[in-house]
Amino acid sequence: MDGGDFDHPVRGRLNAWGIAALDGAMHRLYAGIKGRLLRDVPPVVVELGPGAGANLRYLPKGTRLIAVEPNRHMHPILRRRAAQHGIELDLRTLAGEAIDVPSESVDMVFASLVLCSVASQEQVLGEVRRVLRPGGRFACVEHVAAPPGTAARRAQRLLARPWKWMFEGCDLCRDTGAALRGAGFSAVDVRPFVLPASLGPIRHQIEALCVK
Ligand SMILES: C[S@@+](CC[C@H](N)C(=O)[O-])C[C@H]1O[C@@H](n2cnc3c(N)ncnc32)[C@H](O)[C@@H]1O
Repeated sequence: MDGGDFDHPVRGRLNAWGIAALDGAMHRLYAGIKGRLLRDVPPVVVELGPGAGANLRYLPKGTRLIAVEPNRHMHPILRRRAAQHGIELDLRTLAGEAIDVPSESVDMVFASLVLCSVASQEQVLGEVRRVLRPGGRFACVEHVAAPPGTAARRAQRLLARPWKWMFEGCDLCRDTGAALRGAGFSAVDVRPFVLPASLGPIRHQIEALCVK
């Protein structure tokens, strides 16, 4: 995919606008977790689906960020914010299923709220492992399926189809922790957490750190 799937005239723009508008609120929710996951960031990193740049503030000034972002509507704000944060942006209009980065060439890949939307978690995680050097890290924070048998899980199932249409492929019902554990990393640390009820169908989340 070269970004064409994100060219819907209304949704692509709406999602870019929405993500940018929620930036401050997201930072308040995730600052602690992202601060933990994104410590000791190496000078060159790959981010999958950076959107409007919610994670730029956690990177040291001067970091070279290889940003794999298929939705072109996100690009102008991402470019502007990268410049504001002193990040050297290397923007690729690509999906994470096929990353144009050489094998074993980077020490860290990260993503937030992206594995819910990719077409194939297996392919994306395979690509993450391919581009990481041995010992390299993959860090992510993702919303996931609520525990089986709960009202939250039933609500996710009910909402799944319209949600997926509106949010360009976002699947409320994924067991991303299992996908990470099955992806062939040498170590995987998955920590579940629950956000306030106001976050509705995306309140069940995980933070994860995987080592190749
Ligand atoms: C919910 S937004 C999250 C944006 C940002 N990471 C954040 O935390 O605010 C999901 C992002 O993933 C991107 N995305 C969707 N499918 C993708 C794929 N296959 N590969 C890479 N990025 C993808 C979308 O374009 C969007 O920018």
